[in-house]
Amino acid sequence: MKIIQITDTHLVPPGGTVNGVSPETQLRAVVDDIGRRHADADLVVVTGDLCNDGEPAAYALLRDILAPLACPVRLLLGNHDHRPHFVDAFPDQPRDPNGHIQSVMDTDHGRLLFLDSHEHGHIGGIYGADRLAWLDAALQVEGPVTVFIHHPPVMDGLAHFEHIRLHDDGAVLARLTAHAGGVRHIVFGHIHVPLAGSTPEGIAFSSGQSTAHRFVTDLADPEPYWTAGPPCYRILMIDDHGFRAYGAEVGLPHTARAAVCAGP
Ligand SMILES: [Fe+2]
Repeated sequence: MKIIQITDTHLVPPGGTVNGVSPETQLRAVVDDIGRRHADADLVVVTGDLCNDGEPAAYALLRDILAPLACPVRLLLGNHDHRPHFVDAFPDQPRDPNGHIQSVMDTDHGRLLFLDSHEHGHIGGIYGADRLAWLDAALQVEGPVTVFIHHPPVMDGLAHFEHIRLHDDGAVLARLTAHAGGVRHIVFGHIHVPLAGSTPEGIAFSSGQSTAHRFVTDLADPEPYWTAGPPCYRILMIDDHGFRAYGAEVGLPHTARAAVCAGP
């Protein structure tokens, strides 16, 4: 199946900018590109920080921008989001019994888990006891799972995020590591740089690049610089070959065309 991941859209009310970037312009370009190039997508997932300050007008703008997408859309919350305003704008997005924006989707290639790590007043993620209970139930399934969450439940190694990681003492990763059916991949956002790796136990993970403002990649600087870049998203393929993630940037100039490589 083909899943499109968009992350850290950081929308503000129309016309606004964040760190020198127009989140609206960026996301409109992404949605337009997905419409033209990925009409066969099975799902679009936006992995949190949907809106920068959580205003109703920003969520209304998000609804407007995403409206042309033809496939199902799952929206996750990040630290910048506002759960009540999100629910007002997207009442049809699935929630768990405690009101967290969490859900599962069963596919021919395993269960997809969409986790809610947002906690009002925290920049880092919270995944408390009630959410862990929901996760335990969601993991009662045979076969592999693929996990979508805003805050990385793994070590990102970036100084800026030292104090704003997932504040769960490793509980989420421990649950996933113990899953008998395995974890195909953990997909996240939050860090505004592209990252791919694996845990000591061998669980693969990666982040998408932010669609809006992004960091100049700097592992050691706790005060890294923001920068701008092309609107971007990822194409995630899950099939009999496993899991693959492709970065896609919108509007890049064509400098030449490659010839067919017939081998050997
Ligand atoms: Fe973000």
